[in-house]
Amino acid sequence: MAYVATEIARTIRMPGVQTRLSSDEEQELLRVLRESNSLSVGAGGCTENDAFETDFTQFVGCSDSVAVSSCTSALELSATLTGLGPDDEVIMPAHTFIATAVPFARTSANIRWADIDPGTRVINADTIRPLITKRTKVVVVVHLYGLPADMDSIIALADQHGFFVIEDCAQAPGAIYKGRRVGSIGHFGCFSFQTHKNMQTLGEGGMLTVRDKQHGEQARRLRWMGIWPWKGKREKSWIPAGNDIVEPIPGRWPVNYCMGEPNAAVGRMMLKRLDKINDGRRRQAIRFMEALSDYPELCFQHVPNDCHHVYHLMAARYDGQSSGHHRDDLFILLQDKYQLHAIVQYWPLNRSELFQKFGFGDANVPETDRFYDNMISFPWWSDMSDELIDDMARRTCKAIDELREGNSN
Ligand SMILES: Cc1ncc(COP(=O)(O)O)c(C=O)c1O
Repeated sequence: MAYVATEIARTIRMPGVQTRLSSDEEQELLRVLRESNSLSVGAGGCTENDAFETDFTQFVGCSDSVAVSSCTSALELSATLTGLGPDDEVIMPAHTFIATAVPFARTSANIRWADIDPGTRVINADTIRPLITKRTKVVVVVHLYGLPADMDSIIALADQHGFFVIEDCAQAPGAIYKGRRVGSIGHFGCFSFQTHKNMQTLGEGGMLTVRDKQHGEQARRLRWMGIWPWKGKREKSWIPAGNDIVEPIPGRWPVNYCMGEPNAAVGRMMLKRLDKINDGRRRQAIRFMEALSDYPELCFQHVPNDCHHVYHLMAARYDGQSSGHHRDDLFILLQDKYQLHAIVQYWPLNRSELFQKFGFGDANVPETDRFYDNMISFPWWSDMSDELIDDMARRTCKAIDELREGNSN
């Protein structure tokens, strides 16, 4: 019932939390806070992290999972594990959240921006292929808005050219491509449990999934300062030291990207109902899109038959040329007259000053530009009521009607 206040409010806007804790999850959190031997991975075992990782591995169907502090940390670890350096190139979409790119930019590798498919709005083999060179070491595929990219053709390219495929699954936990969960298809999968995501671990959290078990062990050594159980004989249990400090992988310093134990306990609980959460979001999406089916001005993401979309967001392109209008006209009308606060995302990264400053301003991504310049992202979260979805659709229909009739002033 946590949503009542939002639902009766006159203004509909994106909330700060996408999926609230259930009372069972709150109870579990309290239990861990009261009873757990430690709240951190490092000091004295990591019961909840271990259990969450085991469950996540089984859920995704990968070889191993490593719980971390964020998806950005998971992306950083995957960048490190591929051994990326200044002589290498990485291909990824410019149409994504900044965190997809920064961990790779930080390796000093060259980033090349792939365009999105105009229908699915994710990258595909055709947009990646022209960018492949002898230096291509990594392709980062983002399952944006919760829709899996066409992984088979991308993996076929990877096999042919010998590059790593990293799946950015931040927005797509539980999404399925041809019967397989995202995060189990590429060499690495990176998940986010931040407050805006379909499932959360108390504000921050992430998971790295791996295809090769050895990468899982290396990621654990990197994750917590290279501190590792002592192997072999010691003079005494504390001489020379209780634990060893190892070089996690050749030539790399370790980091601290650990997830807390309470966070892991909540994540483990929420994972049990993730499919249910996603089913609800899919129902909401179908209801909303059906209510707008007489409005071809709004073009929603095309979902291929073999993909199970988890609708992290509800984004559409507004094609208002027939009535001589632009997305901004719809955006302003919705906001000012109908109190429906949509947002615009994701600023193509090549257009930002930060990426331009580091030499990543060049891109030939016309579909990315066309989508970004015309897109609108509606307020969206888990457990929206039918009434709220219908209300949001009604306000949108009214606004588009007004633009069609030309009396929006
Ligand atoms: C596509 C994408 N990648 C990565 C991230 C980073 O996730 P985190 O905040 O857990 O680091 C996000 C978060 O919004 C995202 O949307």
